[in-house]
Amino acid sequence: MNSLTRDLAMLCRERAEEAARAGHGPWSQRFHLMPEVGWLNDPNGLCQKDGTFHAYYQNSPFDVDGGLKCWGHATSRDLVTWEPDGVVLVPDTPFDCHGVYSGSAIVHDGRIHAFYTGNVKREEPGRDLDYVLDGRESNTVLVESADGGTFGPKRLVMTVDDYPDSVTRHVRDPRVLANPGADGPAFLMLLGARAKGPDRDHDRGEVLVYGSDDLVHWSHANTVASERPLGYMWECPDLLVLGATEATRAPGLDPAAAPLTVLSVSPQGMEGPAAGANVYPSGHMPFSGSLLGPCSLGAFTLWDAGFDFYAPQTFEAEDGRRILIGWMGMADCPGHANPTVGHGWQHCLTLPREVVTDGRSVLQRPVAELASYRGPVREGEGTLLAEGLQAFDLEVEGIRGHRCTVTLAGGLDVSYDAAAGEVVMAFRDRARTSMGGGRGERRVAAPALGSLRVVGDASSVEVFCNGGEQVLSTRYYPRSYSVAVEAPGALVRLWPLEVPLTL
Ligand code: FRU
Repeated sequence: MNSLTRDLAMLCRERAEEAARAGHGPWSQRFHLMPEVGWLNDPNGLCQKDGTFHAYYQNSPFDVDGGLKCWGHATSRDLVTWEPDGVVLVPDTPFDCHGVYSGSAIVHDGRIHAFYTGNVKREEPGRDLDYVLDGRESNTVLVESADGGTFGPKRLVMTVDDYPDSVTRHVRDPRVLANPGADGPAFLMLLGARAKGPDRDHDRGEVLVYGSDDLVHWSHANTVASERPLGYMWECPDLLVLGATEATRAPGLDPAAAPLTVLSVSPQGMEGPAAGANVYPSGHMPFSGSLLGPCSLGAFTLWDAGFDFYAPQTFEAEDGRRILIGWMGMADCPGHANPTVGHGWQHCLTLPREVVTDGRSVLQRPVAELASYRGPVREGEGTLLAEGLQAFDLEVEGIRGHRCTVTLAGGLDVSYDAAAGEVVMAFRDRARTSMGGGRGERRVAAPALGSLRVVGDASSVEVFCNGGEQVLSTRYYPRSYSVAVEAPGALVRLWPLEVPLTL
């Protein structure tokens, strides 16, 4: 261990201890993974080994507004309660000195193999570097761990010299997976890339595909791009094969139905209606063909049309479920004020979601384990009001004529706009000091509204419409909690979620 590693690790621990003493304030979450201290963004290295789930995340423990990126770590036995484990990877080498950026993990030969991008921004006296075509290094680094908490030496497996000439120096977020195809190398790596256009305004996002048989030596095998450009850079790529196993089929889907494969990306610079209303969208596209040969991508669909969702990553649980976790936050929103900053932390991850297909669409639902934390049910026909519940699980089923309004904490409404054919999530008060922190309204097209499931935590709300066909998520910061439902003729059930505070 070099001295920088040792001292950074010690400082990280001290920061976390200080934060624990000070407390995390009223919006500390019960089951949404949040940082012990500082800033959090993307989920990284999601995996399950010997029954234990591991979630790593981008964490800046020294700066609540996002500074030097490390990997924070937490473990769970059920994806609902998380055991914090501090910072486990810090920028301590010349090839990751400006951040241990995002990446993924694969369990192989009884060890967690984690890959990440070592970010480097060089400075050269007398030269103006643009950090797109020069000045930046995006290194692909491999680290191994037997227990998920302690990693061995860092191994540099690729540098900018290993990426094709057609891309800029923005190449990152390795997603390593077992090759889903019958031919080719045992492992594939997807890397998000910014390909060079004729000028910087015409760069375009794409995915570089690398292959390896030993997880150490990688060679470029293919490049995947959409027919028309979707933004200038694709971050955090992922590939999901749904429907091939029972765990990824929605109830009722014929096992003989063809599987649905989708490529997930988080594009920067995407414009147009498909990109939704956020600064940065995250979505999936049907993928056909081979990752190693000719292939094509279909239409881009947002994973989540709410305010706070970006850079999701998935992994396969040991029981075969495909679990997705996203960053429940959004970068570069000057109009938004997040009051947890005053308590020394910012952002969280989404609730882990099972991803399945009904043969047509990609559906998301809260992990089944959440239901085991439900307390006694409160039931209402068409209407229900409950005060004081911070963590809850609400189901509204059999909605008639799309008529359903759920109001949370007296100021956040979820309803259906029949004229527009859209589910709407709207804060009544849009002031920066209000419980929405300055947020307004988000909408998602839905031909009908038949059912709603809303999961609430101290400062998070996730809304799953029509069995998870549309999802809207947002952070909120209420001073008092309530759930009010008006849905004439529908069955309304509300469970408190009895999850102890983690931090
Ligand atoms: C996405 C992202 C990644 C990068 C990481 C740095 O939010 O920009 O592309 O690796 O965050 O924190």
